[in-house]
Amino acid sequence: MTKSTLTSQDLRTPVLRRSFRKPYPAAVRGEGVYVWDADGKRYLDFSGSAAVNFIGRGVREISDAMVEQARQLEFVHTSQFTTPVAEEFAQELLDFAGDHFRGGAVYFTCGGSESVETALKLARQYQVEIGETKRHRVLSRNQSYHGATLGALAVSGNRKRREIYLPMVREFEHIGMPYCYRCAFDCTESCYNCGQQYAAELERAIEAANGEAAGFIFEPMSGATLGAVTPPPGYLQAVAEICRRHGVLLIADEVMTGIGRTGRNFAVEHWQVAPDILITAKGISSGYAPLGAVIASKKVVDAIAAGSAAFLHGFTYNAHPISVAAGRAVLGRIQSLNLVHAADSDAEGTAGSALKKALEGLRDLEVVGDVRGLGMLWGVEFVADKKTKTPFPPEQGFSARVGQGCLRRGLLVYPMQGSVDGVAGDHLLIAPPAVITAEQISWAVEQLCAAVKEST
Ligand SMILES: Cc1ncc(COP(=O)(O)O)c(C=O)c1O
Repeated sequence: MTKSTLTSQDLRTPVLRRSFRKPYPAAVRGEGVYVWDADGKRYLDFSGSAAVNFIGRGVREISDAMVEQARQLEFVHTSQFTTPVAEEFAQELLDFAGDHFRGGAVYFTCGGSESVETALKLARQYQVEIGETKRHRVLSRNQSYHGATLGALAVSGNRKRREIYLPMVREFEHIGMPYCYRCAFDCTESCYNCGQQYAAELERAIEAANGEAAGFIFEPMSGATLGAVTPPPGYLQAVAEICRRHGVLLIADEVMTGIGRTGRNFAVEHWQVAPDILITAKGISSGYAPLGAVIASKKVVDAIAAGSAAFLHGFTYNAHPISVAAGRAVLGRIQSLNLVHAADSDAEGTAGSALKKALEGLRDLEVVGDVRGLGMLWGVEFVADKKTKTPFPPEQGFSARVGQGCLRRGLLVYPMQGSVDGVAGDHLLIAPPAVITAEQISWAVEQLCAAVKEST
């Protein structure tokens, strides 16, 4: 039976997979930027799975650190013990996050969604501790993604991922997201003006919340939903100032952009913004173990320590020793190989700059409307008409077709739809590990070009 004649019944297995519409190759091995399937086919991972892998696969020192931890102590519950590895890694992460987090503390989770849930509750508890008991709303933005759990979906703005679950979530205000390629305003001075207008929207939403706003959550750079859209100059600074003025906690979701991905330790550093709470996951363990972290500033931790003295929250597996050991070894590797610098797309001779240059070349293709991003996180947006920026009809599934073409050629990318209005608009997310070489980048971009041409 050929793949095209397989029905959804044929594609049923004991694993409840993401889709019954397509077969999934079975992955069996990884090394560097490559993954191999059970048939021996090799794939170059040009999207780091989903912007997860940053240090490359198959690194022995990471699995050794995990094995060593498992041999010593596989697990304890955080209601009974702490562990040396969690204490050490928390301090290293605080140092990595910079001066603003001195005296703060880290809460370890098993991934992005759990970290977002934790941050939402932390923001609420902070407000209660300081006597602002009315404050419980967490404002967020349209066209954002903060996770799959119901609390995280409530603050997300990814239409397709939310739609059917909306009756189950408690919704707060969503504001607009600056998207310079399709700017809704007058776009003068490199979108400085539109950035200020979007920031003003936040101020109006906070005022409309009538003293109930507890926090504002945002991705410094849009991740999968819009595809690596960077904020206009001055926007994040204005947002941070508005939050500070209104006593609203600034919560940066760096699940995708954190731990070096954009060529800085955390992406907020590009815009000199200091959040009250910083969330990260994905790259923190580079995929070697399920791990996320919520990095809380001193102000937030002090409020709880001096108040009720207990954070009313917990997961059985938070600060799991084996995951934390993996994260610690990954951060050590990032620092010893100077991978944050390698990811910097504005520094000469780096993987980041090679990636930027190669991807910029895609603009010559008839259907490529925009190429945007920073570091090792890029978006390529496809359009049916470059002049008018008209998207492809969503039912054509253009980005998915490009993704399939890439897969046939042994290249992994992350296709998404909905950048224009949540439904229409096709783009790819490109987020390879920072250990990728210039030769591997040019091979990957060649395959990508061929897949785009074939899909046109
Ligand atoms: C910005 C952002 N926040 C949260 C999440 C959710 O993370 P996870 O899938 O690890 O639960 C994601 C996942 O893609 C993300 O990109």
